[in-house]
This record gives sequence, C-alpha cells and structure tokens, in this order.
Amino acid sequence: MTRILILGANGQVARHTTAFFLQRTDAHLTLFLRRASRLKNPDPARASVVEGDVTYREALRAAMQGQDVVFASLTGDMAKQARTIVDAMHAAGLKRLIFISSMGIYSEVPGEKYASVLDPYRDSAAVIEASDLDYTILRPGWFTHGAEIDYQLTQKGESFRGHDVSLNSLSDLIVKLALSPTLEVRRSLGVSRA
Ligand SMILES: NC(=O)c1ccc[n+]([C@@H]2O[C@H](COP(=O)([O-])OP(=O)(O)OC[C@H]3O[C@@H](n4cnc5c(N)ncnc54)[C@H](OP(=O)(O)O)[C@@H]3O)[C@@H](O)[C@H]2O)c1
Repeated sequence: MTRILILGANGQVARHTTAFFLQRTDAHLTLFLRRASRLKNPDPARASVVEGDVTYREALRAAMQGQDVVFASLTGDMAKQARTIVDAMHAAGLKRLIFISSMGIYSEVPGEKYASVLDPYRDSAAVIEASDLDYTILRPGWFTHGAEIDYQLTQKGESFRGHDVSLNSLSDLIVKLALSPTLEVRRSLGVSRA
C-alpha cells in the first residue's frame, strides 16, 4: 500500500485528486493543510488529516515520516515552499515528489508571455530541478470541469500544445505518477487536452 502525503490538501486540485486516490487505489493519504478544521476527513479508514504550514520544515518533516510519495499543489511563496519541501524530504529520506506548476514557465506556450506573474512557478521549478529528488513537475493548462480524461504530455524543451485540461485528466495523471516510482522521473511535463 502506497502512502501519499498531499500538501495543500484543501486546494481545488488536491481535493479532486484525493477523491481519485480514494476511488481508484488502496493508497493511504495524509492530508496536510493550514487550518485543518476546514476539511472533513473524506475516509477516516484510509486518510489522516494533519494541520501544518508548508513553509515550516519541522512540521513537514514530521508529516513525511513513513510516507512514500509527496504530492504538492500549492500557491503563494512557492520558491520558499519548494526549498522547505526539498529540505524536509532530504531529512525524512524521501525521494518521490509530484509538484503542480503551470504552463508557461519556460515561455513554452506559443504566442503567450506570462512574465512576472509566473515567477513563483519558475522559481519553485528551478529549486526542484536543482535537487536530487525523483521529481515530476506538472505544467497544466487552464483547468476545466468536464468529465473527460483526455490529455497529452509535452516535455521540457517542447512547445506546449493546446490550452486547457480537465481536472479529471490531471488527477488521472497524478494517480498514475504517484503509484509508479519510475514514471516520468526528473521530468517537467506540460499537460493539456489532446
Ligand atoms: N486554475 C487554473 O486553471 C490553473 C492552471 C495551471 C496551474 N494552476 C496552478 O495549480 C496550482 C493548484 O491549483 P488549485 O486551483 O488547486 O489552487 P488552490 O485551490 O488555490 O490551492 C492551493 C492551496 O495551497 C495552499 N497553501 C498555500 N500556501 C500554503 C502553505 N504555506 N502551507 C500549506 N498550504 C498552503 C492553500 O491553502 P489555504 O487554503 O490554507 O490558503 C490552498 O489550499 C496553483 O498553483 C494554480 O495557480 C492553476
């Protein structure tokens, strides 16, 4: 049974993907968030809720004990968050990280310049890419709420194709990555509707 730590567990992508993990896998989930009273535990037999801030290394390290995979879906000071996650993963002896970023961080979207609004995403990706972790950075397009699971991946260095991606597609990919220790390791993937 894979043990997965979900950082930013009250966020949109995190909650959507938590439901996917519970429906499609037997993984055990640790749901890490600020002000934990906001989140009802969706399945107390398979999930624990831990209150904490991702910028506090010691809280993170403690939550990482015994985990196999860290899945981070965050906003805010993402460079600081990424540095703390990398440090805490080293301290806890963990390797596998799945980190949500955004399309556009390498100016890879034809015709689009996202400039400084994407700096937290660029800076956090750079921190993770400089680490020795088994990371997969995901650069999704705009989220949609359609039922379809239909996506294509582009590697770093390739132009991004398309514009948007369903949350179902993104969660499907995150579940596959979390359960496959070697899938797309040390890659930064564009994710868009096929
Ligand atoms: N919307 C789109 O179409 C789109 C497209 C591409 C990429 N993205 C990016 O994908 C990421 C995930 O999106 P989303 O819609 O799921 O975002 P979201 O709902 O805003 O979730 C982000 C979560 O990060 C948490 N967080 C921020 N700082 C934290 C800290 N220091 N410690 C612990 N948790 C912290 C927030 O918790 P609190 O509730 O405590 O504030 C929030 O729940 C975001 O970076 C977003 O910008 C979005």
